Amino acid sequence: MQACRTLVVAAASRHGGTCEIADRLASTLSSGLPMGWNVVRADLSNLRAFDDADAVVLGSAIYFGHWMHSAARAIKYLKDAPLFDLWLFSTGPISEVDSENAQVISADALVATGQAVEHKVFGGRLDTSHLNWVERVAVNAVHALPGDHRDWDQVDEWARHIAGQLLVVPDRAAS
Ligand SMILES: Cc1cc2nc3c(=O)[nH]c(=O)nc-3n(C[C@H](O)[C@H](O)[C@H](O)COP(=O)(O)O)c2cc1C
Repeated sequence: MQACRTLVVAAASRHGGTCEIADRLASTLSSGLPMGWNVVRADLSNLRAFDDADAVVLGSAIYFGHWMHSAARAIKYLKDAPLFDLWLFSTGPISEVDSENAQVISADALVATGQAVEHKVFGGRLDTSHLNWVERVAVNAVHALPGDHRDWDQVDEWARHIAGQLLVVPDRAAS
């Protein structure tokens, strides 16, 4: 019988929108992977949750062009871990100007480490009623559009894509 393999899904979020994407990814992955896979929805306050991972899906909301601190800290932790499969996602490109979105995203150099299989960017959620005045100035500066720009079909599709890739990845523990 094949040993149980663990996929850890975690995300950094300030206002909850990115956490909900991580929840949805974990749920779709759970139903998309066969028996023998254990999907763990982890909290970034406990980095030890990654210690037994065979694969990781890690995301963050983008604030001021960067990943949030807890997600950046997790990346640093994972870089020291033995090789496993890593998928990254960001939320936040909510500007109506595509070139500005691209600029923000290309400033994120995480994929350039070569340690990630893929970096996916999802639309985020911006509720201006929850923002302080500094945040309001910032979102105006990046031409951010208020509203919920998350596309759940796109999130599910990416989860199924990851599940498909995991099914063909050899079990390192068995080799
Ligand atoms: C103060 C502030 C700064 C932001 N900066 C960026 C940014 O630089 N680039 C971007 O694409 N989105 C930016 N966003 C949009 C957020 O990333 C987006 O709303 C995200 O979905 C929030 O996720 P959360 O609900 O998980 O915190 C910013 C939002 C706020 C409130």
